[in-house]
Amino acid sequence: MPQVLTRKFLADSIEQVQIGDNLADDLAQIRVVLENHFGAVVNGSNLTPTADPDGLRAALFEASPRLKDTVHELRSIFDGGTSVMIVPQVHLAHLDVDDRGLMLYCLALGLGYPTGTEPRHRQVVWPVIARAKPGEGFATHSELDTEAKYHTDTTFYPNPERYFILYSVRAARCGGGVSKLRASKHIINYLQKTDEGKRALQVLRALRVPFRIPSVFTDSGDASEKVYTFSRILDDQDKVRWRDDTVKRGLTEQPSFAHPDINRSIEEFEKALDEAPEEVRLTLDDDSLMLVDNHRALHARTAFQDRVRHLLRIRFHDRPPMQDAR
Ligand SMILES: [Fe+2]
Repeated sequence: MPQVLTRKFLADSIEQVQIGDNLADDLAQIRVVLENHFGAVVNGSNLTPTADPDGLRAALFEASPRLKDTVHELRSIFDGGTSVMIVPQVHLAHLDVDDRGLMLYCLALGLGYPTGTEPRHRQVVWPVIARAKPGEGFATHSELDTEAKYHTDTTFYPNPERYFILYSVRAARCGGGVSKLRASKHIINYLQKTDEGKRALQVLRALRVPFRIPSVFTDSGDASEKVYTFSRILDDQDKVRWRDDTVKRGLTEQPSFAHPDINRSIEEFEKALDEAPEEVRLTLDDDSLMLVDNHRALHARTAFQDRVRHLLRIRFHDRPPMQDAR
């Protein structure tokens, strides 16, 4: 029985995928597998990465063929070159938030290797709720209600996760919090059309820049601690790593990296983020999710006022991470 029912292209490489409504029917047996595996009562908010993701995945697939089929069908869509999938209804709305987190954890583990969001508690299912005020330490987008410009996630880690799931428990009701999505290949194609753009691509592929690590993700969690990851914005396979405030703050604090060519190239790159074709704008409605290839797509979000907006986010690698590199 196929779990993916229909596919509709929203833009090149970005598509809407409708899935069956019965995944949550397997919650009871999924919970048993998780509790046997972790040896404790589990809920969405206390789940951490496991030392044996392959073993747990196999056990979950055995207990829930629906989960297995859903994962395999979503995986084959990614394998076909899609960078972002929007699932307009995940059919989890009748579950409480902890049980929804549990199901999403299993979806992410089915597709890959979920990571802990911050170093201290290693919580996998991360609530995205406006909780910080601008200017308080150096906060991340998921803690703020201000605009999040186009970026990729965890730019400041040595090995940013390949994928993330962002699930909407409750969308903002104020008209804000609109998601914007772009496949990075259209940014690169756009830059290739002009001499300045081609030069920018060469520079972005060649020069390392300092990405400043937000306070919540440093080992101490102290706002005064200044820590960086040094990396290129585009690697040899055009895997993209970009968040403007981490780079610009890094370049201001580490001026030896602020070569005039890098500043000019960043301007060209940001122009392409504004002007390139094939952008998708949408609101993640209640009980919908986006599944994003974080190496091949960039995402953004408009500001919002409705502070009851509530999302859940899980990031995961496509292969087992190195022990010391997340
Ligand atoms: Fe993000």
